[in-house]
Amino acid sequence: MKLAIFASGNGSNFQALVTNLREKKLAVTFDWLFCDQPEAYVLQRAEELGVPASQFSPKDFANKVAYEQEILRQLRERKIDLVILAGYMRIVGPTLLTAFENKIVNIHPSLLPNFPGLHGIRDAYEAGVATTGVTVHLIDAGVDTGPIIRQEKVEIEPTDTLEILEQKIHAVEHRIYPEIVEEMIKNGGYLK
Ligand code: GRF
Repeated sequence: MKLAIFASGNGSNFQALVTNLREKKLAVTFDWLFCDQPEAYVLQRAEELGVPASQFSPKDFANKVAYEQEILRQLRERKIDLVILAGYMRIVGPTLLTAFENKIVNIHPSLLPNFPGLHGIRDAYEAGVATTGVTVHLIDAGVDTGPIIRQEKVEIEPTDTLEILEQKIHAVEHRIYPEIVEEMIKNGGYLK
């Protein structure tokens, strides 16, 4: 099975997925890291991990459809089976959604449907809730919507700073995302 990972920034989930799943010696290869941001640290991680990477963004194209058509062309050329979003900060449009129906997974740092959007950790922290968490879900046309695969809670202790909460959330992400992707790989790219 061939995987592509899409990311826009730091890439800690990308690294956790690649290192964890490579150790497990599954029938899977990481065939593409696609990044829409030229300065993203994830590009350096991809080079260090030997994952082929490309970087381009919608502004390099006439419109979003043309941008996604180029992504799709490359996904097909590389014979990608499953797309893993790991901090990809864009809405996936109909061009990719239709071609990869139920084959694009996302991770979000809150207990959806609470705190969707770009700042899931901070929004939960500032709202003063006692519990937040991590959600892994298939994507659809909405913002952080789509069928939920798994959620895990993270308690916010009164003494937690935002930075501590971020570390707690990321630790959960780095553990559960490889687990879920492993299950999907073993199941031929589908959910059970
Ligand atoms: C993660 O918190 C993920 O849930 C969200 O974006 C963040 C990406 O972090 N979608 P990283 O780039 O994997 O370090």
